[in-house]
Amino acid sequence: MNDNDKRHVLGFPEIDAQHDYCYRLFDSIEPVGAFGDMLKLQKLLREIEMYLMFHFECEEHLMRMYEFPGYIIHQGDHEQAGGQFVRFLDEFDAGALNPAKLTAFLIGWLMEHSAISDTEYVTWICQRREQFL
Ligand SMILES: [Fe+2]
Ligand SMILES: [Fe+2]
Repeated sequence: MNDNDKRHVLGFPEIDAQHDYCYRLFDSIEPVGAFGDMLKLQKLLREIEMYLMFHFECEEHLMRMYEFPGYIIHQGDHEQAGGQFVRFLDEFDAGALNPAKLTAFLIGWLMEHSAISDTEYVTWICQRREQFL
């Protein structure tokens, strides 16, 4: 299924580029999983884990920088998603990962989270930046 149309673009290039890389990584899970190369899949999952941490920290840094009032709730959303991802990593370690399920979770989460929660802090930051531009 091509769900590119539902991949929300914020119009905030410094974060859109990060989301784009996330989607590209997520799209790689199924093909790599189908090929059966577990070492390659393990490396891909590690890259996703590390990049998601970077992405969340980057957003949270921006929110603190601009004193976004919804920071705590947003950070909680990131933590919850990170926790769910770790459960998938546990499944991988147990040899029970369903790559399609993981892809659906990650893409679905990012589409919804970026369209709703990320839009909120981006709108806030853009308003705060207006005074400088
Ligand atoms: Fe994001
Ligand atoms: Fe976020």
